[in-house]
Amino acid sequence: MSNPSILILAGDGIGPEVMGEVKKIMGWFDTARGLKFDLYEDLVGGAAYDAHGTPLTDETMAKAQEVDAVLLGAVGGPAYDDLDFSIKPERGLLRLRKEMDLFANLRPAQCFDALAGFSSLKKELVSGLDIMIVRELTSGSYFGEPRGIFEENGERVGINTQRYTESEIDRVARAAFELARKRDNRLCSVEKANVMESGILWREVVTKIGAQDYPDVELSHMYADNCAMQLVRTPKQFDVIVTDNLFGDILSDCAAMLTGSLGMLPSASLGVPMENGRPRAMYEPVHGSAPDISGQGLANPSACILSFAMALRYSFDQGAEADRLEAAVEKVLADGTRTADLMQKGTGKPASTSEMGDAIIAALNASL
Ligand code: IPM
Ligand code: MG
Repeated sequence: MSNPSILILAGDGIGPEVMGEVKKIMGWFDTARGLKFDLYEDLVGGAAYDAHGTPLTDETMAKAQEVDAVLLGAVGGPAYDDLDFSIKPERGLLRLRKEMDLFANLRPAQCFDALAGFSSLKKELVSGLDIMIVRELTSGSYFGEPRGIFEENGERVGINTQRYTESEIDRVARAAFELARKRDNRLCSVEKANVMESGILWREVVTKIGAQDYPDVELSHMYADNCAMQLVRTPKQFDVIVTDNLFGDILSDCAAMLTGSLGMLPSASLGVPMENGRPRAMYEPVHGSAPDISGQGLANPSACILSFAMALRYSFDQGAEADRLEAAVEKVLADGTRTADLMQKGTGKPASTSEMGDAIIAALNASL
């Protein structure tokens, strides 16, 4: 049998740097744990635009459909700000999400003990925090039609459409209920049913699925604005949150910052199972391409490395090895190794991107 396959799309800015550390970690799992992957590499975002004039070629898209998982670094940068909307780096990412039909975006916001002091909230509010945001990723106002900028009565009008079908709500809600069952068994569904019809339907569908198929999961509902407030007031009240594409985009950034650093947070985007039973999947750090620090060895590779841990867990049935990798990252932090994003200015010399990767490999070795 052939090895499971991974397509690496490092992308722009710090993407290639952090991905370099992931490749070292993959090498460790190969030699030390016998976990072999067939690795392919290609371009996405600005890097693909520079080479091919498009943020994602059809060939790369086809490869992404073929492999068992895609691992993405980050896309975008100031060099591409003036490009036409249709060929901006972000369009490459959105095309991958849409054409792979990756409808469930899992964004954990977990506060590592060693970093609780870095949160903008008081330490006691965030220490031990462990939230999972499930963001719908292939519909809603990101993709709804009509969309565009049109002329109307002598002026321009910008239009996007918030649109959800019952089946789109159904499948992401089920993914969230299933996750809640594996965690603390609590699900909070978030919309604005007070002002939006799409929110009314969302609430109805989630309520019905809960009553029919997940009566054991404690279900609550919250308006999105209240959820934003509750996240910064008492974040530990949440276990799993399920919400639409746009609210999920905003709330996941908010939840991420509670943990102290965007440089620590991974994500998984999952679709329907392929023929081999594995879900179509793409894994990527929550942070962006950070052009201000790229090329300087300053980036924290942890989020991308933890995204690979999510791949081990959700695509490759290697939950124990995922635990091992997550524990190694946690140990490195607890031992005091810090990249610049995890240090107060002037408190010593930060670890470089590759020193952080090496420290994680040392912790992996110590775990054997
Ligand atoms: C995210 C990002 C993307 C989004 C951008 C880069 C298109 O903010 O993954 O959260 O808005 O979905
Ligand atoms: Mg975002």
